This record gives sequence, structure tokens and C-alpha cells, in this order.
Amino acid sequence: MTTIERINKLKKERKAVILAHYYVNDEVQAIADHIGDSFYLSKVATTVDAETILFCGVTFMGESAKILNPQKTVVMPDMLADCPMAHMADIGKIDEVRAAHEDVAVVCYINSTAELKACSDVCVTSSNALRIVSALPNRDIYFIPDENLGRYVASKLPEKHFIFNDGFCHVHKSIKAENVRKAREAHPDAPVLVHPECTMDVIGLADYVGSTSGIIDRVAESAAEEFIIGTEMGILYELKRDNPGKRFYSVGHRQFCPNMKRITLEKVADALEKMENTIEMEEGLRRRANEPLKRMLELAK
Ligand code: 13P
Ligand code: SF4
Repeated sequence: MTTIERINKLKKERKAVILAHYYVNDEVQAIADHIGDSFYLSKVATTVDAETILFCGVTFMGESAKILNPQKTVVMPDMLADCPMAHMADIGKIDEVRAAHEDVAVVCYINSTAELKACSDVCVTSSNALRIVSALPNRDIYFIPDENLGRYVASKLPEKHFIFNDGFCHVHKSIKAENVRKAREAHPDAPVLVHPECTMDVIGLADYVGSTSGIIDRVAESAAEEFIIGTEMGILYELKRDNPGKRFYSVGHRQFCPNMKRITLEKVADALEKMENTIEMEEGLRRRANEPLKRMLELAK
């Protein structure tokens, strides 16, 4: 039996649905029931009719699925696939900021641990951060953990006062303005599409800034024939599949998330067989982390 046949057989036995982020390996995206950005995947997790969610992505994604669906079993192909940025904020610092700014809203990017979400007022993803922060009544915003997404949102909302945290995504931070300039020289007709986890100097050179789904939608509606892509290169699988006549160039050479790439077909099959790598969470923590996620889903409607 091939690994894919094994996965399909086990999927039926476990009544499982497979969710995958655009950054995982191509062959894993190919066997997923739903592929998407972080917001889409968190929404889909609340509507799928399955007992088990097999999440092909990093730990915070599986945790969010579990927080929103405590009655479901959430299984990860590899528990070591963890996003470093998800840990880059400090609960003590959140308390300090709250003490110093009476009316602050703690806005937590979904790329964060359950513990950080539990101390926050609302979650956001890269596709809805702007809409959600602008809908908040608070003027003071403490944005965790990603400084770059925080600065991008702040640049669009001058009426708000932002306090930043120094977290970052190493994949997007590795994309330099110089790489963008060189890519433009090499492909002068190609618009530059970047993710808001990039630094502000890179964002300043882009023609479009958006989440992975935003970039995919932008390519679909554009008349251009070639594009310079400033995000993790896993997105190229979907872009090429949807647009066989268009050409894509990565801005740099290191747009590779080693944690997302830990997910392999063999690990998917093994996880479904053994059902060991399940996300478990203490109920009090889950409830507290659920509040900002629920608020995000409501505000994003
Ligand atoms: P989105 O797919 O929501 O844009 O997220 C990007 C990301 O870095 C996920 O780890
Ligand atoms: Fe984390 Fe960046 Fe990898 Fe996304 S691409 S999982 S933000 S390290």
C-alpha cells in the first residue's frame, strides 16, 4: 500500500479531516481536504463535520483548532513543528503594559501560544488585523508577538497609539529590501507581493501587502503574467496550480520555514495510525484562550 493509500484508509477509519497551511510541503497540500491561510483554517476548524482534525501546520494552528473545538481530537503530524515567533512575547510584560495604560487592548496575532492568547483581548490574523484593530474602541494597542505585522497595521491607523513587542518571523525577516530591488531589476514587469510579516522597508517597496490568501487572490485577479513573491515558498504550489500560465519568482533564497517543512506524508500517516500526537490543554487555559479567538471570529464577520 502506498503512503497516500494508507492515509486515505486511516482517514476514513478515524473520521478525520486534513487541514493544511500553504507553507507545508507540496505533497502534503495535495492530500489535504482544506488548504488555507491561518484565518481560513481557524474558521474551517469550527465547521468541519469530523471527529478528528489532522492539522498539517505548526503547533499554534493545532492549538487554535483545539481551543475552538474542545470536543474534537486534534492530531499533529509532528509535535516539534513549532513557530518560534509564537513564543516571542512575555506575560509579565503584558501585565506591565496593562498597568501603565488603563485602556489598552492587547491584540494577539494568532501565531502565538495558548498562554499568550489567554492574556489577550482579541486575536487577529494577517488577513483581518487591520479590520479588527480599527474596529476596537481602544486607542492604545499593545500588539504581540509580531513587531512587523504590528508596525504595518499601525502605519494604516495613525489615530491609534501602538506599543510594539519585538517578536518576528525569521523567514520573513530574512527578506531584505536589497533582494526586492534586485528582483525588480531582473523582472521589471512583475509586481511585488509581500506578506505583512516582512519588515517595513520591504513593505514600502511592495505593490501589494497581504496574507497568503490575499496574495493568492491578488494573483488570480491580476492581468500581469509574472510576479515577485515575498513570503514562504510553499505558497508557490497553490499559485502555480491555480495559474499555469503565470510565472513566479521568490524574492530571496531563504524563504523556507523549517518547521512547516517538518510535515511529511509518512508523518501524516503515522499520526493517523497511532493517534498519539494529540493537542491537550487544561480546560481553564482553553476557555481563556477561546475568548480572544471568538472575539476575532465575531469582529471579522
Ligand atoms: P497567513 O497564512 O495567515 O498569512 O500566515 C502566515 C504565517 O506565517 C503562518 O505561519
Ligand atoms: Fe512561524 Fe514564520 Fe514559519 Fe509562519 S513562516 S510558522 S510565522 S516561522
